Amino acid sequence: MLPVILNNKSEVNHRMGRLQDKVALITGGASGLGRGIAQRFCEEGATTFISDINDELGAATANALGATYLRQNVADEAQWQAVIQTVVERGGRLDILVNNAGIFSNCPVDETPLEQWQQVLDVNLTGVFLGCKHGVRAMKTNPGGPAGSIINLSSVVGLRGQLGGASYSASKGGVRLLTKTVAVENAPHGIRCNSIHPGVIDTPIMDPMFAAAPDPTALRQQIERTLPIGYMGDPARDIGNMAVYLGADESLYITGTEMVVDGGMTVGLPH
Ligand SMILES: NC(=O)c1ccc[n+]([C@@H]2O[C@H](COP(=O)([O-])OP(=O)(O)OC[C@H]3O[C@@H](n4cnc5c(N)ncnc54)[C@H](O)[C@@H]3O)[C@@H](O)[C@H]2O)c1
Repeated sequence: MLPVILNNKSEVNHRMGRLQDKVALITGGASGLGRGIAQRFCEEGATTFISDINDELGAATANALGATYLRQNVADEAQWQAVIQTVVERGGRLDILVNNAGIFSNCPVDETPLEQWQQVLDVNLTGVFLGCKHGVRAMKTNPGGPAGSIINLSSVVGLRGQLGGASYSASKGGVRLLTKTVAVENAPHGIRCNSIHPGVIDTPIMDPMFAAAPDPTALRQQIERTLPIGYMGDPARDIGNMAVYLGADESLYITGTEMVVDGGMTVGLPH
């Protein structure tokens, strides 16, 4: 029988979480993708803060996951300053910022009220800009030197147009190129910035669309038929795991990249 050689000097510590010792802030963390990302971050050992405008749900989510809830409207610059200050005071640093908060809109361009356009751009694009601005400032002053990972939630409709998506698609296209600019500017500081482009993930953001449909089940099946993989994505498994990868040091050489997580939606039509 061969002797068993125990390698006690293994470089891989399987018990260490992939985000151990990281401090993370996820906006819009009360529900949907933000909650799924926060769940995976907590499971991987990050000190996790979530922010949202929905206090009741935000506090309940934080409580369930072992995260900390902070109230924040991402479209308000003063609130960004206050939230980042709180994270740095309590966590000692900011390693990962996930700009996830967003709202959906579905209206033909010639019927879109200016107020709706402005509201969508304020939350989905200005909110991400403010996050990058104040996130980069915080990451530049991290103890031990500048470092960090910013992850921006765009969409497959930030890569192409969509019926009824004038304001939403424009906001997500803006996030895509803002991400690349932040990446180029901050690569020398060790601060990375990447975008995630989800396809159709099962979250409450689509509730109003299903509620307005004459037959929500038929609409769900119709959507699933457009997905080569045949079903909608899951917040924690599909987007949460991608965010863990982009937040962890294992993706250290990746910046300015578009991570498409869409079950093949943008690849081609299914059979
Ligand atoms: N679900 C999808 O299929 C899908 C696809 C592509 C992109 N996305 C994007 O992913 C992100 C998350 O979407 P989701 O599906 O989880 O939606 P969701 O509605 O389930 O969650 C969004 C969260 O953001 C919060 N929020 C809204 N406005 C805010 C504001 N001004 N400040 C702070 N928080 C605010 C909401 O309260 C909510 O908790 C969005 O940016 C969305 O555009 C989602």
